[in-house]
Amino acid sequence: MRTNRILVSACLAAVLAGCTPKDETEKKIDELLGKMTLHEKVGQMNQLSGGAWLVESAAKGEVGSILNCVDPAEINAVQRAAVEESRLGIPILVSRDVIHGFRTMFPIPLGQAATFDPALVEEGARVAAREAVSSGVRWTFSPMLDIARDPRWGRVAEGSGEDPYLDVQMGAALVRGYQSEGLAACAKHFVGYGAAEGGRDYNSTGLTERALRNTYFPAFQAAVDAGAMTLMTSFNDNDGIPSTGNRWLLKDILRDEWGFDGMVVTDWNSSGEMVAHGFASDLKHATELSVNAGVDMDMMSYGFIGFIEELVAEGKIKESQIDEAVRNILRVKFRLGLFDNPYVDENGVVAYDEAALAAAKQTALESAILLKNDGVLPLKAGRTILVTGPLADAPYEQLGTWAFDGQPEHTVTPLAALRETFNVIYEPGLAYSRDKRTDGIARARSAAARAEAIVVVVGEEAILSGEAHSLSSLDLQGAQSDLIAAMKATGKPVVVVVMAGRPLTIERDLANCGAMLYCFHPGTMGGPALADHLSGAAVPSGKSPMTFLRTAGQAPMYYNHNNTGRPNTGTETLLDDIEIAAGQTSLGCTSYYLDSGYGPLFPFGYGLSYTTFEYKNIQLSATTFGKDDTIRVEYDLSNTGAFDATEVAQLYIRDLVGSVTRPVKELKRFERVFLKAGETRHCSFDLPVADLAFWNADMQYTVEPGAFQLWVAGNAADGEALNFNVE
Ligand code: GLC
Repeated sequence: MRTNRILVSACLAAVLAGCTPKDETEKKIDELLGKMTLHEKVGQMNQLSGGAWLVESAAKGEVGSILNCVDPAEINAVQRAAVEESRLGIPILVSRDVIHGFRTMFPIPLGQAATFDPALVEEGARVAAREAVSSGVRWTFSPMLDIARDPRWGRVAEGSGEDPYLDVQMGAALVRGYQSEGLAACAKHFVGYGAAEGGRDYNSTGLTERALRNTYFPAFQAAVDAGAMTLMTSFNDNDGIPSTGNRWLLKDILRDEWGFDGMVVTDWNSSGEMVAHGFASDLKHATELSVNAGVDMDMMSYGFIGFIEELVAEGKIKESQIDEAVRNILRVKFRLGLFDNPYVDENGVVAYDEAALAAAKQTALESAILLKNDGVLPLKAGRTILVTGPLADAPYEQLGTWAFDGQPEHTVTPLAALRETFNVIYEPGLAYSRDKRTDGIARARSAAARAEAIVVVVGEEAILSGEAHSLSSLDLQGAQSDLIAAMKATGKPVVVVVMAGRPLTIERDLANCGAMLYCFHPGTMGGPALADHLSGAAVPSGKSPMTFLRTAGQAPMYYNHNNTGRPNTGTETLLDDIEIAAGQTSLGCTSYYLDSGYGPLFPFGYGLSYTTFEYKNIQLSATTFGKDDTIRVEYDLSNTGAFDATEVAQLYIRDLVGSVTRPVKELKRFERVFLKAGETRHCSFDLPVADLAFWNADMQYTVEPGAFQLWVAGNAADGEALNFNVE
């Protein structure tokens, strides 16, 4: 008791003395900062790509972080120069894009989102961090949290799709997973990058503050709340202001509203690119704008190291702003323990261990989405099957985008894995996904004669998604659809497997197969996972994190859209049914496309199983709730088929009337429920009314009273609405 009294009085004394007790790290930062020259401070704000060639800069204390060096010996060489030769010995922060694994490649993040399994994704992040840290990497530029509603944008591959709630869950899981293993996370790209006009990468965005707060901010705030140590600014100009020069974003929101005390890094030369944007007159001006907006570290513009001292001397940047930036950088380095252990054990590299491969396979299993099955799946193990298609044996392509450090020689392809389970005849049909030649199709067609069933593995080469890889058509490239049609024409049962970086427009191909399994580039263990699914050793449970379009012309299309004043009724007249010389208003006036109708091919949250599920007895704990109440939703879920399997039950709500128009549906909860064949389980969700809050017409975050609807279903389009009120 006495000790407590002493402690309390000591704190009181300190507070009374006007200085709250700083934790040890802050004291160390203050002490170190006090010794630094302006040149050394600026050195910390400079991030350069490379390894050995940076030894000299490191020895002069002119580089605070490096990226794109993953050789432990080379990293130690640069680190020794910084720690043992520079005046103050501040260690370098070594960074890399560890986006979906380091050596062991997991499914691309869009595939990981399809698992609707944050715990599994967190485990994958731990695996990635263990492998990366063992090689000397201590900072990853992940999670990518950009809400993506337009599959023409190649970077949909790197995120968690179109829904804010799923994005929040996956982003926070990745932050926890990385940082629990000593790898600093980086929430990126702040903000709104995925809303690039036309789905064309780097293009401008026009998001209002309300759209940012209701849709694009939540995952970033969740990442900050999960303790993300860093954050990256995005390339785009939103409402005319490039994020890298947006003080409202980087100070008012990030620091003042969210209390972020980590470090903000630019994207690659995104500071310098403000000249091309027409927002800065030259690199020096861009540097002034970036630093004064609240950027701490400069990735590869060379502007910070080149101009900050001049700008401080001219009074255009206050040294106190530099001190703030350096504090944020040093705080990350102290929190990572770099001052105590700056070096990597060159004999301690881990990669592809059993646990890593098992986690990668489980993630590939849970990420695969069954879009169609007329009964052809599962195939009976041991049968003679023809395996064809350009991605059946493509170890590099299967890893997907941002797989810098994945080693294709470790990839287990569908061909290799299927040979373990079936009697396989292999004819690639096409050499690569863009291959337009059809001679191989003839060989596949004749080989089909000897097979009982055909598996066609198609999709995208890795290069066709990811950064700067936007597409204006989302159809399968090359002669892939012709290959599928030719296999259909043989009359044998056809299973199509798609490995892609985005939801493609595959309606035509769906008609030419009995079953389609969609795997967003599944990574190192994609083959074994596929073999388990095709043989029935595992049952698909993936659900789509993005809407599947009928045509690229429908983009952007997403489930959580507003209703408009003339919502589609589903009875609209389509192109071929329009009468000749039809009158101007004869088709009605609602929101749809004459040629492709209104609805998507598959909605958000969609995915089939080898079994069937039934939702019954969905009940709410009341029909009217107060703002501090919690809505208990109970339901019975039955596995009404013949396979033990997992369903991802999803809870959606709709706020029917608001001071601003509200989405027709919003995902608010989901859970994976495993049920044996024939089993029924009583399940429930608890949804605090507070989770119905949104940024309203007065830009207040609040729950507005009124009528709501609620669904529990297996995707965003199914289910019956239940009504309730908030008073
Ligand atoms: C790239 C990407 C960013 C990545 C960075 C470093 O341009 O936009 O996501 O982390 O540069 O490679």
